Amino acid sequence: MVGSGAVAANDGWSSRTAFLMAAIGAAVGLGNIWRFPTLAGENGGGAFVLVYVVCVALIGMPMVLTEVLLGRAGGGHADAVGSVADVAERSGRSRKWGAFGLIEVIAAFFILSFYSVVAGWVLNYVFLSGGDVLSVVLAGNPLSPAFVGQSQAEVTGMMGTLFSSPGRMIALHSLFMAVTLGIVMLGVGGGIEKAATWLMPAFFVLLVLITIYGAFAGSFAEAVVFLFTPNFSALTPLAVNEALGQAFFSLSLGSAALITYGSYVPARVSLGSTAAMIAAADTGVALLAGLMIFPIVFAAGLDPAAGPALIFQSLPVAFQGMPGGALVGLAFFLLIFFAALTSSISLLEGPTAFAMSAFKLRRGPAAILVAVLAFAIGIACALGYNVWSDVRPLAFWSVFENTNILDSIDGVTGKLMLPLAGLGLAVFTGWRADRRLVEAESGLSGATFVLWRGLVAWLAPVAVGLILLFGLFPGLLG
Ligand code: PFF
Repeated sequence: MVGSGAVAANDGWSSRTAFLMAAIGAAVGLGNIWRFPTLAGENGGGAFVLVYVVCVALIGMPMVLTEVLLGRAGGGHADAVGSVADVAERSGRSRKWGAFGLIEVIAAFFILSFYSVVAGWVLNYVFLSGGDVLSVVLAGNPLSPAFVGQSQAEVTGMMGTLFSSPGRMIALHSLFMAVTLGIVMLGVGGGIEKAATWLMPAFFVLLVLITIYGAFAGSFAEAVVFLFTPNFSALTPLAVNEALGQAFFSLSLGSAALITYGSYVPARVSLGSTAAMIAAADTGVALLAGLMIFPIVFAAGLDPAAGPALIFQSLPVAFQGMPGGALVGLAFFLLIFFAALTSSISLLEGPTAFAMSAFKLRRGPAAILVAVLAFAIGIACALGYNVWSDVRPLAFWSVFENTNILDSIDGVTGKLMLPLAGLGLAVFTGWRADRRLVEAESGLSGATFVLWRGLVAWLAPVAVGLILLFGLFPGLLG
């Protein structure tokens, strides 16, 4: 006698560890390994890192608790809209607060569309490095550097070759989306939790191994100085703004993932310490990713400020000059693939849970609907690197004047939607939600509760409001 309600109720995390793995999996992704080192590299290193860590501690971490808490308090609704509306209603407020949950669902949907395209680039390098490893192993020399016999220009050119082939980009994008969809269709316990509990440990092992390798084979000291010596003259107001935006993206805030995952957490789990662990793990991984990448970049004499090409062009060149580079290269791209997959799963789960409740669909059809639509938008993003490279969808808006399709979607979600949802939910939780309900659900008490609520009610709205303002009108910063 299992009714559909019972199935939904049973389909949650099997333990606190399972939730932690899934939530850390959602947080740790391309944002940590691709974006964070890129931004740190472009913004002078240490000072950016310092500002980033402060943003996470004072705003990011409290907001992680806010979102997970709203999810679990949401009266059995799995989706972000229903959860927030329910907490509002029980607090004697309008269900319209659920609109901020809806912004999160829409943001997740659009992020998923381009995230899968970039993850497809990662897959491209998994295949290239896999082929490279196969050839050196067959030649009886498994510890060979990467891509022997190819010139540096040939190696950096691999990215251009990919970008100029719409067919290849779309094929990789569909492969990645299909894997994501397959896992989400298997459900919370049978798919998402299983994937996270296998992929995250594998991810951590690879991360630590490559970091140790880089410490011995690369310029570790130089990387430490670069990442941890703040040079405040390199720090522009825009970079501060960038750091706060990156904290949101990296922690998966403002995009339905944490609310939805929070709704599957059993009542006995204390959320305060769990949320702190999610934020700490995500930040730890971002810093370790820096310590993994920069020693290798510096040892090869490459530019830390290479921008988005850092991991796709600079690192393969560096692996060319290192013993064991072929194997390390494959391990590196596999690691990013694992991280991206657990994040894309969470990006699909939020809108899927919403589609299930809004359109009364079962999980399978709901997930397929969301994935197919996001896939279609992703195709446009991929074409923006070749046949549609002249298309500037937001040309009318000065901030996005010269931005291609993928970066425009990234920009609107990251600079507008995530902060807007975060702002709304901070105000709601800090000022409108029932204080006792929030306190009981948070698992915090005494001074810790007062501190957390203060950060959510006062600091988060002001700081996030500023991200919104300056992100959209950078001219205000002079
Ligand atoms: N936090 C992920 C990353 O750093 O790559 C990206 C992400 C995942 C954003 C899930 C939002 C989300 F809901």
